[in-house]
Amino acid sequence: MSQAPFKLRIAPFLLLLIGILIALNVVFAETSRVKWSQEEVETLTSLSLQSLPPLPDDPSNDYDTDPQAARLGEIVFDDERFSANGEVSCASCHLENKVFQDGLPRAEGLEVGPRRTMPLIGVAYNDWFFWDGRKDSLWSQALGPIENPLEHGISRTKTVYLIDEHYKRAYETVFGELPEFPGGYPEIARPTEENATAARAWQSIDKHHRDLINVIYANIGKAVAAYVRTILPDPAPFDRFVRALSQGDREKADSILSRKQQRGLKIFIGRGGCTSCHTGPLLTNNQFHDTGVNDMQESEYDAGRAKGIPKVQHDRFNCLGAYSDAEEGECMALRYMDTSTEKYRQAFKTPTLRNVTERPPYFHAGQTKTVREVITFYIEESEENPELEHLDLTQEDVDELVAFLRSLNGPVHVHRDLIGRLPRDMQ
Ligand code: HEC
Ligand code: HEC
Repeated sequence: MSQAPFKLRIAPFLLLLIGILIALNVVFAETSRVKWSQEEVETLTSLSLQSLPPLPDDPSNDYDTDPQAARLGEIVFDDERFSANGEVSCASCHLENKVFQDGLPRAEGLEVGPRRTMPLIGVAYNDWFFWDGRKDSLWSQALGPIENPLEHGISRTKTVYLIDEHYKRAYETVFGELPEFPGGYPEIARPTEENATAARAWQSIDKHHRDLINVIYANIGKAVAAYVRTILPDPAPFDRFVRALSQGDREKADSILSRKQQRGLKIFIGRGGCTSCHTGPLLTNNQFHDTGVNDMQESEYDAGRAKGIPKVQHDRFNCLGAYSDAEEGECMALRYMDTSTEKYRQAFKTPTLRNVTERPPYFHAGQTKTVREVITFYIEESEENPELEHLDLTQEDVDELVAFLRSLNGPVHVHRDLIGRLPRDMQ
């Protein structure tokens, strides 16, 4: 009879104790600091904008640091007259308020294309351009969309006429005299394998003038490149966190990234193996990998880098070509490019992860809608894909990784101090 009252008396204390323990545990998990070793802080520093080297100078483009060339490039970038329907400009797909991409699964110019518009974030630091790296400079890249029948859909010949008509003085301020150029050439004239009429029209122009058209066209690319080069990221919360951490200001670091984000960051540089490809301050190794995306149900076959290699090798506007300003002994990336096409079948360029959560959808043809789906896809894919280490991540790990990726969102903008002015009458 006397045991029951004792039990009744002890029960509330036990409940209280359990309650306190649970509460302590919750508080502990939330307030316990994520520990960062010296080695880890060094890794983090290598990923932060502190480690971004000065903007590289492209040896194949003598005008890439010329502020007036950048201004001319900016004007062309925004000008819809450089398109077959008068409605497409570079800026229609690379929108300033969307991290210089468009948010669509596949780009829409004159028609819908096969791939997703890439964001422009510190692109001048790249060696290769496009998802398949079929271009080796920003200026040569810029010449692609203008003649692409799905994008701007005009020709180099028409581009030269447009420059002569609207931007003669601006052009001459930057590049010197615009060569005398006879009128009356067919505007569709361009070298191409897909359009016999355009190709014939191109052949009908005498060689000397074809060469002049190419020189002027290349110069327009060089001006556009000088502009695109100035689109750069400013520090995101991740960069501010790393700075505080490396300065030993733990209090400040913890006020910038939550514990959850820090745990996600730890997975990113550790168990997740993400930094074997998403490395350096732009979170890309500039290389090409087959992470299995092309085998997803939503995908159409795309050879990726395997086709990009011969294209960049044979491109007349590459670093070793006649229109490049590079000296002998330069163009290292192209000279020493890995040409094993078999190895790069269905491989795509590792994209930057800066501002990644702000710009869905993802992958080269917009195959996934959220970064969570990207990571879930990786977990499944890593069971069989030799490019990916086996990923043993729980739902909580995925949540933490996603939370971390949000800390990579910072301002991305045109650095106006690098852009000059052209007198008003020239514009
Ligand atoms: C119709 C939409 C569209 C237009 C117009 C367009 N782009 Fe793009 N841009 C894309 C797509 C799609 C890709 C990826 C294409 C691919 O890999 O085949 C891309 C890729 C790029 C890249 C490569 C980025 C990287 O990280 O490799 C740069 C730079 C770029 N575009 C600049 C420009 C410039 C400059 C113009 C105007 C001359 C332009 N784009 C016009 C859709 C467009
Ligand atoms: C073997 C190299 C490699 C590894 C490891 C890797 N990635 Fe990627 N990642 C890529 C490539 C390549 C793409 C583009 C694939 C495509 O579109 O075909 C990509 C795309 C992405 C994208 C979509 C970005 C966009 O703009 O489309 C995200 C997000 C991403 N990776 C996050 C991660 C995370 C998080 C990890 C670690 C769990 C990781 N990646 C590990 C190479 C890699």
